Amino acid sequence: MTRVLVLNGPNLASLGRREPEIYGDAGLEDIARMVEERAARHGMEVRFEQSNHEGELIDLLEAERDTADACILNGGALTHTSIALLDAVRGFGKPVVEVHLSNIHARERYRHTSLTASAARGIIAGLGPHGYVLAVDAVARILGITGTTE
Ligand code: DQA
Repeated sequence: MTRVLVLNGPNLASLGRREPEIYGDAGLEDIARMVEERAARHGMEVRFEQSNHEGELIDLLEAERDTADACILNGGALTHTSIALLDAVRGFGKPVVEVHLSNIHARERYRHTSLTASAARGIIAGLGPHGYVLAVDAVARILGITGTTE
């Protein structure tokens, strides 16, 4: 079965309570449910994880290198700062779709650069939780899976 790792970085467990004017009202568990539902339509299994710790995210990418077929990554603030996460994404070696709930290019200047984006197949930003659903569809297409959504 095709397996997708969905990785969420620091502070994303607080979604729904954290700056709702920017990130909206949905919690991470709501997003997990949306992702699971969409992935099921493509016949994909999901491992959905969140960590506030850079090293744990890197460990997960390493651990899933031989088992996951793709990754959907929202690295949170580490997106803008972590060469270590970039290296781990490169080392993962499978397609990565980067997702941001907010449009990082319309926000503070320090959010305009994504270090991890250079290793991603594509980026979705500014579409809220729906961006994760689109990322699942993107992964299905990249992997050549024919789902029931098209
Ligand atoms: C974010 C954008 C980042 O700049 C921020 O640090 C986050 C969330 C997003 O999903 O919009 O934690 O990745």
